[in-house]
Amino acid sequence: MRRSRSFADTAMNFTTARKLVEMHGTPALFVSANRIRRSYRDLAAALPGVELFYAVKANAASELVRILADEGSSFDISTNGEIDIVRSCGIEPSRCLHTHPVKSDAEIRYALDFGIAHFVVDNEDELRKFLPYRDRARLLVRMSIQNPSALVNLSHKFGVAPQDVFALIEMGRELGLKIAGISFHAGSQNENALKFIEALEYCRDICWRAAAGSEPLSIIDIGGGFPINYITSVLPPAQFCQPVNEYLERYFANYRVIAEPGRYLCGSAATLATRVKGRALRDGGWGYYLDAGLYGSFSGKVYDHAEYPMSVAARGKRQRSVLAGPTCDSFDVLYENIALPVLKVGELLLFDSMGAYTNASASRFNGFEKAKLVVID
Ligand SMILES: Cc1ncc(COP(=O)(O)O)c(C=O)c1O
Repeated sequence: MRRSRSFADTAMNFTTARKLVEMHGTPALFVSANRIRRSYRDLAAALPGVELFYAVKANAASELVRILADEGSSFDISTNGEIDIVRSCGIEPSRCLHTHPVKSDAEIRYALDFGIAHFVVDNEDELRKFLPYRDRARLLVRMSIQNPSALVNLSHKFGVAPQDVFALIEMGRELGLKIAGISFHAGSQNENALKFIEALEYCRDICWRAAAGSEPLSIIDIGGGFPINYITSVLPPAQFCQPVNEYLERYFANYRVIAEPGRYLCGSAATLATRVKGRALRDGGWGYYLDAGLYGSFSGKVYDHAEYPMSVAARGKRQRSVLAGPTCDSFDVLYENIALPVLKVGELLLFDSMGAYTNASASRFNGFEKAKLVVID
């Protein structure tokens, strides 16, 4: 059941936040290590038998990668830069999967030289890029699953249509490549578990056809997409994953099943602390300039389309206000028309669920530093 979150629902209270801000300043992203560990354990318990590969792109901070490595996570990486991060955290290549469907030869060699063996492809050209490395690489074919109702439809740009997956597998095998399985991503912040079932139904059919030939497939990669609470609440993982689990148990018991959660593992763990650095009364309403904006941690509002739960300590009559970021760009406005009590310069605001796709896509535009990431507890 969905319910609206009240402002008081934020993970961190103001007393704790003020102490931390005194030490670290703002803007700061406070990441709870305990919360990351709990998210990992909850999802692992909700998907028994499924290997979790943290999608590093969601938040590539090495502190988070190390915490998840310690919990036993494996890693979904998709670029040379992400390889460098996991390598610097001492993670074995056998715990990594390269999920970018389109890579240059140099990128393939970089990953192979690190020791990664599993890669994702979604077209013929990509298959052919592996011909020189056919003995060292095992491939998953990325299937598209359209999910326009997810926050981000991850089959807009990648993935081969379900009806064409088997032909690509056959082509790969005719080329002498090792095709190990199928991967898909059913949409990020996907609140509809049945999208996983839809994708798994296609996988079942493809696996059946592969098994009817000479070589069965052995890996099913169900991607990421597991949802977290933002402004509205979602199902807890045990409930959300139940139909997925049942389907996997019934039809894929003999397969190696892996998942690539990003948002679920890091999203809920971070609170952004930002302060009002200036204000102006304009057209009868207050406009506030925060020290974090769309070019910083709120880049997630642009690229990830996320809306974060906010809390302010100030009380009083709420009036129509504007919240903007610190840069000189007029585009850098977070909320045009938001009801807020009057805020003073220096006022602290907290934004919850800011661990995924926030600092990951932040820039230093206009010379502003990114929010400081601080791991707490
Ligand atoms: C290939 C792939 N796997 C996993 C993820 C992580 O998805 P999520 O954060 O929705 O769990 C992404 C996100 O972009 C992705 O592109």
